[in-house]
Amino acid sequence: MKKLLSVLLAVLMVLALAGCGQKEETPAGGGEAAPETVKIGVAIYQFDDNFMTLYRQNIQKYFDDLNAQGGTQYEVTIVDGKNDVAEQTEQVNTFISQGVDAMIVNLVQTSSPALAQAVEDSGIPTVFINREIADYNYGPKTCYVGADARDSGTYQGQIIFDQENHGDLNGDGVVKYIMIMGDPENSDAQNRTEYSIKYLTDNGVNVECLYQETGMWDQAKGQELVATALNAYGDDIEVVFCNNDGMALGAAQAINAAGRTVGKDIYLVGVDALVECCEMVKAGTMTGTVLNDDQGQATAACESVLKLLAGEEITNKVNYVPYVMVTPANADQYIK
Ligand code: BGC
Repeated sequence: MKKLLSVLLAVLMVLALAGCGQKEETPAGGGEAAPETVKIGVAIYQFDDNFMTLYRQNIQKYFDDLNAQGGTQYEVTIVDGKNDVAEQTEQVNTFISQGVDAMIVNLVQTSSPALAQAVEDSGIPTVFINREIADYNYGPKTCYVGADARDSGTYQGQIIFDQENHGDLNGDGVVKYIMIMGDPENSDAQNRTEYSIKYLTDNGVNVECLYQETGMWDQAKGQELVATALNAYGDDIEVVFCNNDGMALGAAQAINAAGRTVGKDIYLVGVDALVECCEMVKAGTMTGTVLNDDQGQATAACESVLKLLAGEEITNKVNYVPYVMVTPANADQYIK
């Protein structure tokens, strides 16, 4: 009798486990049973960031749309790391101890793999986004979705090279520029800074950097730094490179305040293709930008979460969504 009971119990356990697996395999499918709830923890490095605001709205919308289909319900909790490593570590550890089913993590700090390691150790399916950890080996339940930042820098350089004077507005044979960087520990900032200039020098353009400072991806800091540089170097500045559009918006304010005119006596480029910047590119008040596809990246990240939840193997551990060069010729396409 005791033996029969334990056999029955074992059969029941197997059935229950099989049931769980099945539900995860068809996350969006309808069914007669009450829909399953899947908890997803999303840790964003900082809410106060133009690009990551669009990104997180897209993540929320992706799961809202799935929920509206009436199948598996995704309970999404998005937290603000406030650009603080300790704060984010606590938030991610809380997700882990609460036993969320999956996570999406936009690291504050990529120079140390400590938090990523804690995520790996938890065994919770997790997609890292936007900030790439250099030379990192993703485990079976993690992967990365982002974009190849070298390309965004290359496109910035190409936008300047494609001007009829290749950026040399005063015709003295040297393109004098200033560089407003994002967070310098971030690979997007490093690559954009390097590859924008590399495109020019690879094409035989002489360049001189007059000023390089970090504006930490922030509009107000961008404005302040460009105002300082314009004050110090005045008309010598021919090109303002900004690692993102947020800082380029600040740069545009400083350029206007200094009485300079983009396209006439100075050039200005950014990255992200924020709607405001695409409008400026169209109007000629910004030379160009580069689409950093927040929607495409958010979709890829959410799809990866669903795959990992379904127990599928992700072979493309580092998934790069392409950048697109934005100039007056195509800016309209990105004004939505
Ligand atoms: C974007 C920036 C953003 C940063 C955050 C970059 O890819 O271009 O606008 O501030 O990511 O990590």
